[in-house]
Amino acid sequence: PRQADAPGDRVPDWETLSRQVETCTRCAELASSRTRTVFGVGDRQAPWLFIGEAPGAEEDRRGEPFVGRAGKLLDSMLAALGLTRGEGVYIANILKCRPPGNRDPKPEEADACRAFLDGQVALIRPRVIVALGRIAAQNLLATDAALGALRGQPLNYQGIPVVVTYHPAYLLRKPLDKRKAWDDLCLARRLMTRAADQ
Ligand code: URA
Repeated sequence: PRQADAPGDRVPDWETLSRQVETCTRCAELASSRTRTVFGVGDRQAPWLFIGEAPGAEEDRRGEPFVGRAGKLLDSMLAALGLTRGEGVYIANILKCRPPGNRDPKPEEADACRAFLDGQVALIRPRVIVALGRIAAQNLLATDAALGALRGQPLNYQGIPVVVTYHPAYLLRKPLDKRKAWDDLCLARRLMTRAADQ
């Protein structure tokens, strides 16, 4: 198995990691309210990693991230980049369980779930990470900064370039901001090309 960034920390393999998520009871409330865990989906060698917030009702039923209305929009954003769920991209969330009523993740829940996301990042080693929405961005980057302050520039997570953009559920409500989201994805694509040149 590959090494994590922390010295001496071994990254579990995919099978172990997904089993750990499936059987996780670290957050008593989420473990009892969820229908199923939502591990992640896509290409395990993907250069692109998209990270959302947490499963919603449909994801909780189906066990796959972004399969509801917001997910359809995410799929078209991916298609505009020439990506599909099967190829070139992996999709995961900060939380692997649905918070009841889709409330925001609690900080202690995000902390408890972080090792799973870090395991995915370590196994995939994507060339670019796209954080979808304020909650995903703030949790990933450990910041309180507003989404507007985080967009539009290359940020960094464990040495991997991060681009922050709007959550697709927000874009469904504010379609005029799709244009700015596309600018963000173009920035991510430029960082990707740069990473490929190195
Ligand atoms: N919203 C998210 O952030 N993640 C999902 O998987 C679905 C909706």
